[in-house]
Amino acid sequence: MSSKWTLALAVLLVICVTIHVEAKTKAWWETASFYQIYPRSFKDSDGDGVGDLKGVTSKLSYLKEIGIAATWLSPFLKSPMADFGYDISNFTEVDPLFGTMEDFEELMKKSKEQGVRIILDFVPNHSSDECEWFVKSAQNDPEYKDYYIWHPGRIVNGTRLVPNNWVSVFRGSAWEWHEGRQEYYLHQFHKKQPDFNFRNPKVREAMNNILRFWLNKGIDGFRVDAIYHAFEIAPDAEGNYPDEPRNDWTNDPDDYGYVHHIYTVDQPETPLLVYEWRQVLDQFQKDHGGDERILMVETWSPIEIVMEYYGNSTAEGAQIPFNFQMISYLYNDSDAYHYANLINEWLSKMPAGRTANWVVGNHDKNRVGSRFGPERMDMFNMLLLTLPGCSVTYNGEEIGMTDVWISWQETVDPQACNGVEEGYEYRSRDPARTPFQWSDELNAGFSTGNETWLPVSPDYKRDNLKRQRGISLSHLNIFKQLQLLRAENTLRDGEAEVKALNADVLAVKRSLYNDFTYITLMNIFDSVQTVNLNDIFSNLPIEFQYVVVTDKSIRRKGDKVSSTKVILLPKEAVVLKSTIKV
Ligand code: NOJ
Ligand code: MG
Repeated sequence: MSSKWTLALAVLLVICVTIHVEAKTKAWWETASFYQIYPRSFKDSDGDGVGDLKGVTSKLSYLKEIGIAATWLSPFLKSPMADFGYDISNFTEVDPLFGTMEDFEELMKKSKEQGVRIILDFVPNHSSDECEWFVKSAQNDPEYKDYYIWHPGRIVNGTRLVPNNWVSVFRGSAWEWHEGRQEYYLHQFHKKQPDFNFRNPKVREAMNNILRFWLNKGIDGFRVDAIYHAFEIAPDAEGNYPDEPRNDWTNDPDDYGYVHHIYTVDQPETPLLVYEWRQVLDQFQKDHGGDERILMVETWSPIEIVMEYYGNSTAEGAQIPFNFQMISYLYNDSDAYHYANLINEWLSKMPAGRTANWVVGNHDKNRVGSRFGPERMDMFNMLLLTLPGCSVTYNGEEIGMTDVWISWQETVDPQACNGVEEGYEYRSRDPARTPFQWSDELNAGFSTGNETWLPVSPDYKRDNLKRQRGISLSHLNIFKQLQLLRAENTLRDGEAEVKALNADVLAVKRSLYNDFTYITLMNIFDSVQTVNLNDIFSNLPIEFQYVVVTDKSIRRKGDKVSSTKVILLPKEAVVLKSTIKV
């Protein structure tokens, strides 16, 4: 071949490669750092002791400061608040406690100006019993009568009994008698949260319309609540639902663990419902332009089922099926092998071409600093923010807020209040929902009111955002440094290798051809560790420098270190960056 042709071919090759790379440009959400706001507890603008939308708007610049791409807000829609907003009585209205639709529109306007995207919490499994749809369903209104799951019950020896042994997540039978309709209705959560009947096409269309309504308001996506509960098994020819088989770990028939939930969660139809919603979102994008709208789905299911929510070869699903591996299966005493296995399990089971996501906390679980100890807070933020894909941070975790002990008298969470006092602390989600600690002022700067809906942490004078701004190695400042790193090519686009060096040390290597290599190192327990990174990773550059250190380090940012000998103090975590590109 003449050299002219060789040259032409080479040019063509370069063009093709360039086009290929461009085609693979990541969508906005694929490298995004998400932040969950629990609006009741974030910022109160009107002094009633409950956070609100204006409060959120006033703190958008803070979200920007800490590098947040998008925030998902727990529900702020019209609700009697039996489950603090997860019992919605009107899916297209703002609850006055949180403000008005104008406040929401103002939030949208300001968030667009600031470049922070808003994700709405979509609660499709149930409504409030005060929702007009339920009220009409209970009246047998022909349009709504099959909107929910109803059953007349079983007559045994002349006595009417609940239809079967199904148990509610919040304790007790999942069936509640309705005097008006003279039937039982199903509620997998609180009795004020009747479950929708997703086998009714009208319900499906009503849900699609709710999605369209909020898309029209300019939101960038939805966090979908409790999706694995959406379908129940179809009733048999007589309209009956089978008992669920018994579990043997409790004899308490009111405990959710009493039965094995094979008919009330994870039904095969459920991922298909999510695919349908994805079509609604994609169609909206086609019609209205703009960036991809996303679905983040909450499903506490076996990992193989979680993966189905991503979609399959013929249908797109949720971009972000929440990865709860680190919430469900990681404990205070888990060793580095355990961490590595959990992380790699997600990466290896994820269908090809999909994006990973990492979640360590939310408003339903004890705080990270309480589950793993406050001294491991920075470690978790490092892990979350240096793994490949997107991260989801629950508000307050960036400043290392910990659970607040709440007395039985002050407890308001229905999951705890539904039972006896004994053991309420294990059921209650209140400790992780206390007001955000902004400063050392009244109510931690959360509210100017006399009272707050949940008590403010007694530690707020010491642990608050304002103070952390002034401390160079505070949780806040480490979080911010990590966020800056996420903009680097390697952390955005690089490969990831996650390995345990031994039982104590976990390492995450991020590398990209012709670019810097990053290594996050975590010493999980209390021994001093000397590690040779070459023992587990091949082709490592010889020299690294510290780019993120914590207050446990004797090393400083910028210090150089050989890959053959890195010393880690007890519970120390660091991020290293190679001094040259490889
Ligand atoms: C999951 C939510 O995160 C939780 O707070 C709520 O109680 C249930 N779903 C019911 O909506
Ligand atoms: Mg308020």
